[in-house]
Amino acid sequence: MQKWRLDFRIWHWIHAAVVLGMLGTVFLRKTFLSWRTNSELLTQKLAEIDLTVTEAQAKVLAKAIRAPMWEWHIILGYALTALLLWRMILFFTQSGKQNYQNIQKETLHKKMVKLGYIGIYAILTFMAVSGLVIHFYEELGLLKETAHDIKEVHELVFNTILIFVPLHIIGAIIAENRDEKNIISDMVHGGNRS
Ligand code: HEM
Ligand code: HEM
Repeated sequence: MQKWRLDFRIWHWIHAAVVLGMLGTVFLRKTFLSWRTNSELLTQKLAEIDLTVTEAQAKVLAKAIRAPMWEWHIILGYALTALLLWRMILFFTQSGKQNYQNIQKETLHKKMVKLGYIGIYAILTFMAVSGLVIHFYEELGLLKETAHDIKEVHELVFNTILIFVPLHIIGAIIAENRDEKNIISDMVHGGNRS
């Protein structure tokens, strides 16, 4: 019997791509497509061709350049929400629950890894719910200030994902090279249940 059923593997890799994609949108928003940097650049470049714009106008232009990229944060956000619902269904399969069974027999390290997975599921669920609330704040009858406060928490919690993802990838590579040979390829071809 395979360790990871095909549907779980497909789930894991789509989920990984979506989370990395969402981190990518945040990276672009904070670097190459930052409205602060680009509004200064636009002001300067427009001045070189004798066009003057106010700070507010430059901000509108810079945000318009960023907007099509940021749409992907929302599109991937819907995908993440669907993936989390899919993960809940997968908990009813052997592949989906095996990591959380007979935990008392595991080493302390393994217990921490598994606790980390539960933590990341909880954090991602919070990100999805808070993200959807910020996006639909008007429809939900919330004030702009409330949506802003929720965004601050959404942004703060994002840092934990930024820590989990590299730790998880590096951890999987180290395990593959030490005592858990095939841990990564098992997630590709399914592996065998020992
Ligand atoms: C791209 C490089 C990645 C590799 C090589 C990788 C590898 C793996 C492997 C080998 C496992 C099984 C580990 C075990 O049995 O304990 C696993 C599980 C898991 N991965 Fe990844 N992963 C990657 C990216 C990601 C990303 C970006 C996320 C997003 C948060 C993620 C979330 C998870 C979760 C939540 C589990 C636990 C599955 C369960 O509930 O049993 N992975 N990963
Ligand atoms: C892996 C999950 C997620 C991560 C890492 C993440 C990260 C972030 C970060 C860091 C910000 C603040 C950006 C800034 O102001 O500089 C943000 C804003 C936002 N996120 Fe997410 N997010 C995630 C999931 C979601 C989901 C599922 C949705 C819902 C569709 C969503 C919708 C939003 C919205 C609407 C904003 C406010 C943008 C604005 O003020 O214009 N996010 N997100």
